[in-house]
Amino acid sequence: MDGLKLLSQLAKESIKLVFFDPQYRGLFDQLKYGNEGKKLKERFKLPQMNDDLIAKFIKEIDRILLPSGHMMLWVDKYMLVNSLHSLVTGTNLKLVDFVTWDKGRIGLGYRTRKKSEYLVIFQKLPVRIKGIWKIHNIPDVWNEKITKKNHAHSKPIELQKRLIEAVTDVGDTVIDPAAGGYSVLTSASEVQRNFLGCDLLG
Ligand SMILES: C[S@@+](CC[C@H](N)C(=O)[O-])C[C@H]1O[C@@H](n2cnc3c(N)ncnc32)[C@H](O)[C@@H]1O
Repeated sequence: MDGLKLLSQLAKESIKLVFFDPQYRGLFDQLKYGNEGKKLKERFKLPQMNDDLIAKFIKEIDRILLPSGHMMLWVDKYMLVNSLHSLVTGTNLKLVDFVTWDKGRIGLGYRTRKKSEYLVIFQKLPVRIKGIWKIHNIPDVWNEKITKKNHAHSKPIELQKRLIEAVTDVGDTVIDPAAGGYSVLTSASEVQRNFLGCDLLG
């Protein structure tokens, strides 16, 4: 299912937490690989999102979040530096924190080699911490190796669990409109939260 369709069917101001991990095509444009290995070719086959589409998702996420609810946005370094601010322009979302995920293995890169990704944390206005963010020992550099990879872009289950516990309660529903291998579903169910999500590829 298309994630935008899923979001459009959810009620305004009804959700505390949305994870969004867009299939961002900016990285490929930056790297201009011509001789991708098998793995990169597989990634390239996934449905890609440009900045306009990502901004549309974020507008819908802004609409469904409760006041002081959170959007946790996975980005790579190009998106972090180049397009992050423009993607939230005109929304009620304010950047409040971010976590560097150290994947524990070295990847591609012409200059430095990629070993990290970033989870940027936005809060819908009004920005509040007391009574909203309940766990205070999550480090902002997180080491976690993916052991069971079922998607080219699998994300760290344990980090997502900690963040879910920080901003939701047992029985709340966590959303992921571009769920890939459904790592957020695994994280949410392991801490007794409900999950609603989809992916264009199933
Ligand atoms: C970066 S991956 C998500 C990986 C996921 N966080 C995980 O841990 O496995 C992004 C996913 O977005 C999906 N996608 C692209 N366009 C979409 C759309 N319009 N609606 C829903 N999913 C979409 C792609 O098929 C891809 O699986």
